[in-house]
Amino acid sequence: MTATFSRQNEIKNRIRESTDIIRLIGESVELKKAGANYLGLCPFHAEKTPSFSVNPGRQFFHCFGCGESGDVFSFMMKYHRLSFPEALKELARRAGIELPERTLGRAEQEQLKRRDRLYAINEAAAVLYQKTLFESPAAKPARAYLGERRIPEDASMKYRLGYAPGPDHGGWNFVTNLLQKNGMAVADIERAGLAVKKEQGGYYDRFRDRVLFPIYDMSGRVVAFGGRILGEGKPKYMNSPESLVFDKSRLLFGLYQHRETIRKQRKALVVEGNFDLLSLVVHGIDNVVAPLGTALTRQHVRSLRGYCEEVVLLFDGDAAGLKAAMRSVPFFLAEQVEALVALLPEGHDPDTLVREQGTSGIDTLIDQALALPEFVFETLVKQHGLTLNGKNRIIADLQPLLAAGDASQRALMIAHFSEKLGVPPGRMSRAAVRVISPATVAVQGKRRSSFESLPRRYRQIVDFLILYPEFFDILLAAGLEAVVMREPVLIDFMDFLKELAGSGECSPETIFSSLSDGPERDYVARLFMGIGGREGREGAEQQEMMCEELVSWLRENSSQRDEADLLEQIRMAQQAGDHETLMELLRRKQECGRKRTGFCDKLLKNE
Ligand code: UTP
Ligand code: MN
Repeated sequence: MTATFSRQNEIKNRIRESTDIIRLIGESVELKKAGANYLGLCPFHAEKTPSFSVNPGRQFFHCFGCGESGDVFSFMMKYHRLSFPEALKELARRAGIELPERTLGRAEQEQLKRRDRLYAINEAAAVLYQKTLFESPAAKPARAYLGERRIPEDASMKYRLGYAPGPDHGGWNFVTNLLQKNGMAVADIERAGLAVKKEQGGYYDRFRDRVLFPIYDMSGRVVAFGGRILGEGKPKYMNSPESLVFDKSRLLFGLYQHRETIRKQRKALVVEGNFDLLSLVVHGIDNVVAPLGTALTRQHVRSLRGYCEEVVLLFDGDAAGLKAAMRSVPFFLAEQVEALVALLPEGHDPDTLVREQGTSGIDTLIDQALALPEFVFETLVKQHGLTLNGKNRIIADLQPLLAAGDASQRALMIAHFSEKLGVPPGRMSRAAVRVISPATVAVQGKRRSSFESLPRRYRQIVDFLILYPEFFDILLAAGLEAVVMREPVLIDFMDFLKELAGSGECSPETIFSSLSDGPERDYVARLFMGIGGREGREGAEQQEMMCEELVSWLRENSSQRDEADLLEQIRMAQQAGDHETLMELLRRKQECGRKRTGFCDKLLKNE
């Protein structure tokens, strides 16, 4: 027992000593020399200023931000998510040290061996497929296809593209047979995803008559393939299924090959397709990666974060590309990676664009890319418009985004978006966002108008506006919208009034006649009839007085709420220790106070 223990310790020490910790960690984290230590951005928590320090003398790393620390083994385990035996094995392999089998438990040994067999199978298959593409007469159409797609031979070589022959040439078991002949077990070939088991027994090749892109893990081992059909046909792409060695939610096509350029340029481009990636590379743009037939995941963003601080998404301009970009937003926020979005012009993808316009087309696109918050905002405005209801929906759609950031990002985004939308910040942070459609208003109210359940002041405003819509602009200027945003019931009604006002047709009569049959129309009718204690139209002087009263209520109400919202945001920013946001908020609070005193001064002077 003691003997094994000390033996294991001895090997551990030997491996530790033979590993250059700066080089090892430097593969995943950009390190800069700072005195005796090296400093970088911590890969274990999101940060903007480096607090991750590596001490080469003591072979030790420590993060002053999150407290994570350890040696080369703990780094491998935490960063690459390996078990201890796997870390030991990997570092031993790199250091060229032979590991005695006994240091590992039986189950662990079995698991390691199984993984090794999958690596070997994928590698052997890559060799076979590549050889087939370049040498086999059966691959002539595949070579022609790559020619059509303007992929020169050196690029095909560099990315080790391959070809899986179709059943006519290779039979149904081309690769499975060859691998078996090389001593590989068919069960392992199936585990690697290259052979598929038939129901009636036997196996056939997963990839047939496709151009293949080998996918590497971050240690440079082939772990999967992506395969494209030649020309038209379905499915267009087929990828290896996930396996012991392939997790598609973590791996990005191209990251292994391009990690150095990405690190140097501190920027990665994300494209959607394999050929987009290849085509950009052919044109000299090689800080590019592509997910493997999945949406971008948080783990993808996290692995990019180890190499660069800025990511540009080059997505298709269609609905799917838009949706993909929007879905990735919370991940970038959560991982604190700067992201820009450039949607491609209609009918283009990066491949066709770079072929048509060269790199300048891509450069222009990147120059015009919008920062993620801007992109989200503009997209939502396009989707919903800037009517009150539109704003309400935008706020609802922003909620997942607000939830993804940390406290200080949330405060920042709330401040940013509320200002752009012209709504009180409190309206944005409120958890319950109700989107009310005219239909729900009608159903909720049955034959009772929803206006009837409004608080007194709000109802006064509604009544006043129905009877005297000529004052609409004045109330708008006094902050009506911001106040209305707090009462979902009023949102559609305000939009309706705005539309009428915009068409120059806003009179009590047109209001009435433009409402469709329902409780709101009945409400207006009752109002006209003076039912509910109201007289007919008041005199001009009385109207002015009422308007003034409502204006001062609106002003007072909105500035009070703004201040309350600001105070809440200030508290949030303080808690998050976000100095920058805090200063901005304090500045606004001051402004807010000034406005109010200014308003009071004016009131006093008027008296
Ligand atoms: P696209 O369908 O957008 O095609 O797939 P593309 O890249 O422009 O394809 P080409 O130019 O016609 O070759 C984008 C990516 O989505 C994955 C692949 O990784 C592809 O590169 N995909 C697509 C699949 O995994 N399966 C499919 O059936 C289609
Ligand atoms: Mn394409």
